[in-house]
Amino acid sequence: MAESGTDIDRAKSELEAGKLVAIPTETVYGLAGNAFDPQAIASVFKVKNRPSFDPLIVHTCSLERVRSLALGIPEMAVALAERFWPGPITLLLEKRAVIPDLVTSGMNTVALRIPKQPLTLQLLERLDFPLVAPSANPFGYISPTTATHVNDQLGSSIDYILDGGPCDIGVESTIVGFENNEPVIYRLGGTSREQIEQVMGKVKVMPHSSSNPKAPGMLKSHYAPRVRIVLGDISTMLSQVEDKGKTGVISFRSSFEDVPQGHQRMLAPDGRLDTAAKNLFSALREMDTKPIDLILAELVPDHGLGLAINDRLKRAAAV
Ligand code: TXA
Ligand code: MG
Repeated sequence: MAESGTDIDRAKSELEAGKLVAIPTETVYGLAGNAFDPQAIASVFKVKNRPSFDPLIVHTCSLERVRSLALGIPEMAVALAERFWPGPITLLLEKRAVIPDLVTSGMNTVALRIPKQPLTLQLLERLDFPLVAPSANPFGYISPTTATHVNDQLGSSIDYILDGGPCDIGVESTIVGFENNEPVIYRLGGTSREQIEQVMGKVKVMPHSSSNPKAPGMLKSHYAPRVRIVLGDISTMLSQVEDKGKTGVISFRSSFEDVPQGHQRMLAPDGRLDTAAKNLFSALREMDTKPIDLILAELVPDHGLGLAINDRLKRAAAV
């Protein structure tokens, strides 16, 4: 088990010594290391068991610092940064040479974001280097939204977890890149498509690909629990299941009589998509602790944060 707490000094000195620290953000917990230190970056890949072709997001605390890490930032990017940072959006920008190639898997763009989490912002302000921080989970598994989630899987590989409590948003940041002067969403996330379109007009969303994705987080099968998950109309699917006692259910806001109450999670009893986003990953993780062999789940309304939630559900269900 790693120690966890709110000691920013401790987190700072570990990071300065080249060690890894889990940090809270408004989206999910990140596994952080010094973005200028190739050894720390290599440890991040190793601890996550992440393939080296999957680049990392760099976290910093001001637009001024972003300018020291990226070149020729397009006006559209500045508009998004000014509107949404600190917040759940990541921008793909041309990298400066200070960013090691290991961070970007050799690409000439770097993913940058300013997270909206008070402890982590203070930490970033006090460090004189930015932090790489992929979600603090083993590659392909569900992102952590509490310090306990991080400890459950990575506790023996890291020294300290900065504990900011449960994450406010609960799904990862929206990743936006710029192609031929057009914004493109590479990963749906905590900043909704509609919010981005209010700033820039119509935005293209990249479909998932199962091979050679531009952003490997777009890999079809990702965010997956160990127990098989099937999406559809829950009542219909339940009517075809023989052993309902060994079935788990993740619904938007309904409960089902034939399934043990302890095997059911409602994402949003209040019917709100932000509530559903906040509960999604812990619901998926919880199902992996139950004596079940199947999870039945349904999609949520497909607008706002619902797009990101449905994206994660579909990928959790992809085989
Ligand atoms: O909300 C978040 O973004 C969280 C918190 C911790 O900040 N981080 C996160 O990191 O989700 P990660 O590593 O789990 O997902 C980052 C995604 C990956 O799919 C990666 O392929 C993509 O960002 N990515 C990173 N750099 C990229 C680049 N230069 N071009 C395209 N995609 C990139
Ligand atoms: Mg991840």
